[in-house]
Amino acid sequence: MKQGKFITLEGIDGAGKSTQLAWIVELLQRVGIPTVVTREPGGTALGEKLRDMLLDGSLMIYPETEALLMFAARREHLGRVILPALKEGQWVISDRFTDASFAYQGGGRELDAGKLDILEHWVQGDLQPDLTLYFDVPVEVGRQRVSQGGSMDRFEQEQAGFFQRVRAAYLNRAKQFPDRIKLIDSSQSLAEVKAAVERTLQCVLNHG
Ligand code: TMP
Repeated sequence: MKQGKFITLEGIDGAGKSTQLAWIVELLQRVGIPTVVTREPGGTALGEKLRDMLLDGSLMIYPETEALLMFAARREHLGRVILPALKEGQWVISDRFTDASFAYQGGGRELDAGKLDILEHWVQGDLQPDLTLYFDVPVEVGRQRVSQGGSMDRFEQEQAGFFQRVRAAYLNRAKQFPDRIKLIDSSQSLAEVKAAVERTLQCVLNHG
């Protein structure tokens, strides 16, 4: 059986990726592709517990600890959810993956990217998503959307400067890996973003 494809969604908080996730699943199911929808941090029993801790705004966590916990959750996620599903021929759509560690812990927390490279290699070897949709919005737009959503988690509570660094790191990675990471301007209207997502997915569907 043909191996499934691994698609990840990225963006700063408030970039609108969760809204697009439903649309992506709808598009794939329409053409009969079996999908598994998951998220990071999370996606497994342990991963969801780690997520609760990582998002708990009352906890103080060193940047290094934060990175290690993200990759600990990722190791479980890969072993128990992502790899088995891909092997069965399902497509895995993950709301965030390792690019988020480079953007948030590397960019936002200014952790040395070399350390993240080591963790990445340790946890996932050569495995990379087949396609990453990076939803790009100016920091002010993302922050405004998040502040309308009620209580804010440990990351959402960060200052604008943190998100400027996160966004810059994402943009850098999009430049570094142009074949894998497709930038979608998420400050457009919902209909325009949906159309851009559909065009990008069509390319993957048409060219394997
Ligand atoms: P979410 O709000 O998109 O579900 O993501 C949870 C938060 O976790 C979000 O603020 C980004 C953060 N995060 C990291 O800092 N590093 C990571 O590796 C991942 C996967 C998420």
